[in-house]
Amino acid sequence: MQIPRKRSRNLPKAIFLLILAVVATAIVYSAVNKAPWSWPVPEEAKQLKNPLQPTAPALKSAREVYADKCAHCHGDSGKGDGQDASKYDPAPTDFTDAKRISAATDGELFYKISEGKKPMPVFKNKLTEDQRWELVLFIRSLAPAASSDKNSGGR
Ligand code: HEC
Repeated sequence: MQIPRKRSRNLPKAIFLLILAVVATAIVYSAVNKAPWSWPVPEEAKQLKNPLQPTAPALKSAREVYADKCAHCHGDSGKGDGQDASKYDPAPTDFTDAKRISAATDGELFYKISEGKKPMPVFKNKLTEDQRWELVLFIRSLAPAASSDKNSGGR
């Protein structure tokens, strides 16, 4: 019986290429997942307007929900530095980053809170619509006034 020499010599090469392909796919996949544009929000969801006003009671109720459900990741003051934050990659969003938050529409933030995206949990079945809109108001209240630094060109 003849030993298929050619094949056995090519096998390690094939395995090497396979591993290379897997590693490359993993790198591309994680890069794509970390990019901010990898959390697509449907256009009609972006256009939704917040039906609520940032009244004291609305912000107070949001603060309670936030402390209970969000702070362990996003941090008590929204800096993205909660006690569990270091476990996650991408890291929980820093809500005090005025540039980032002011770039998002109310509908966009509402959509993201509702739908989640690993590791960010889904909240549409845990919180009412009003609670989620209140959280949008609350998140906006965490960032320092955004409009004043629009032209400053830096952070
Ligand atoms: C398990 C940790 C965790 C919890 C709990 C959590 N988040 Fe997040 N959240 C994340 C991570 C991580 C991201 C960033 C995801 C990304 O950029 O891909 C994120 C992103 C977001 C964003 C998107 C910001 C942007 O980039 O536009 C919003 C809004 C948000 N979280 C709100 C909340 C609210 C409100 C709560 C509580 C009801 C909450 N999150 C609870 C981990 C968490």
